[in-house]
Amino acid sequence: MPESLTVTDNRTGRSYDLPIENGAVRATSFEQMHLEDDDHGLLVYDPAFLNTASCTSRITYIDGDRGILRYRGYPIEQLAESSTFLETAYLLIHGDLPNGAEAAAWEHDITIHTLVHENVKSFMDGFHHDAHPMGMLLSTVGALATFYPGATQIYDEEQRRISIYRLIAKMPTLAAFAYRHSRGLPYNYPDNDLSYPGNFLGMLFKMVEPRYEVVPEIEKALDVLFILHADHEQNCSTNAMRVVGSSHPDPYSATAAAIAALYGPLHGGANEAVIHMVERIGSVERIPEFITGVKSGKERLMGFGHRVYKNYDPRAKVIKRMADQVLAVTGTTPLLDVARELEKIALEDEYFVSRKLYPNVDFYSGFIYQALGLPVEMFPVLFAIPRTAGWLSQWEESLLDKEQKIARPRQVYLGEAARDYEPMDSRQVQRPKVLAG
Ligand code: SDX
Repeated sequence: MPESLTVTDNRTGRSYDLPIENGAVRATSFEQMHLEDDDHGLLVYDPAFLNTASCTSRITYIDGDRGILRYRGYPIEQLAESSTFLETAYLLIHGDLPNGAEAAAWEHDITIHTLVHENVKSFMDGFHHDAHPMGMLLSTVGALATFYPGATQIYDEEQRRISIYRLIAKMPTLAAFAYRHSRGLPYNYPDNDLSYPGNFLGMLFKMVEPRYEVVPEIEKALDVLFILHADHEQNCSTNAMRVVGSSHPDPYSATAAAIAALYGPLHGGANEAVIHMVERIGSVERIPEFITGVKSGKERLMGFGHRVYKNYDPRAKVIKRMADQVLAVTGTTPLLDVARELEKIALEDEYFVSRKLYPNVDFYSGFIYQALGLPVEMFPVLFAIPRTAGWLSQWEESLLDKEQKIARPRQVYLGEAARDYEPMDSRQVQRPKVLAG
């Protein structure tokens, strides 16, 4: 059975055999289908890339119908159960789990880069007291590039390695600085004797005690959340990382662009939006009224739905179980009871079932962050920290992919045909501007 697609252009009667490779046909195969000898040939049109592969990748595999997620072939459930975030970050970047020596070297190379230049504190101090920490994070990550001029040498492997260490190491420090600034508290320096999540908790919450006392259950819960959020194939922010990275800036600038994409409420901002949504609902009794609003298009059930998962997001299952464990330590919240009832009602409602809308990674994660004492505006920041490892693995894979070059999509032009300039006094009353098709 030939792996090919035969298409007939009915405008000309010509047929074409397009090779099928790895379940895909190349969009450039359609360029040969001309109507006139001098036209460009056919484009393929796919707004928001609903069915377009922008790259080949060996990092993360998702089966949306079966609710499967694997990093480099390892099921997310097994990594959440048995790995650590730093080990998972190594796996994403290097392609295999580390042995003992590799794990120790990796942990050392990241731990020694947790400090940021003292001048970064002046950037943080320049922000308004109520600046959103995602805005602070994306600005300071972009600014980091100015401290490391060698980072622009992206084809120098040593420079790439140290940029990767620095970004993974410094993201928690910048995130904690942003939180401390918003609270008018002094910045805490990293404690390199603590674990990756433990050090982050210490930089967030240490007050005047000599050393921050990590609560093991909280440290473990945060590490698992970091594992679950580390990568997710070609999501919006990873696409931003690859597209911006394709013009070859330093990785800090590309990461700032990825953070900006993650900031949006349809993407990484959803965990913050879920809490605001459940707070607005307020009680189990008011869920039916909210669901009516969703069906009429006035509301969106944040934390539900996914471009790829048309089944329960496997990460949401793990996070839902973890919420019980964490809240058993920190004390439950009535909002979580409303969220659980909201999920139950939605999963039985034809509107959501017919649209294959299930809880995604953002539906329950915010309740855990809230139980840890973090303000809602910090929730997308908790997403950005671990996703930095995924962004960097995807950025490096794209950089080394011989098929990739600067991203520059085509368009289907529907605007005005050629027309001549008219002097001001001869222009008619303007027709209303048509801004969207
Ligand atoms: C993340 O891509 C990734 O991998 C992302 C992520 C990652 O790890 O990187 O998994 C993280 O971003 C998770 C998603 C977090 N966002 C939210 O929870 C926001 C709420 N969800 C949606 O806005 C929506 O589901 C998206 C953005 C996640 C996906 O949108 P799609 O694939 O573009 O789907 P769509 O908007 O075309 O919706 C299809 C239908 C529409 O109904 P009809 O117009 O056909 O009648 O489903 C409806 C939508 O109105 N719909 C929803 C809904 N999500 C989709 N209706 C109510 N509530 C929702 N949440």
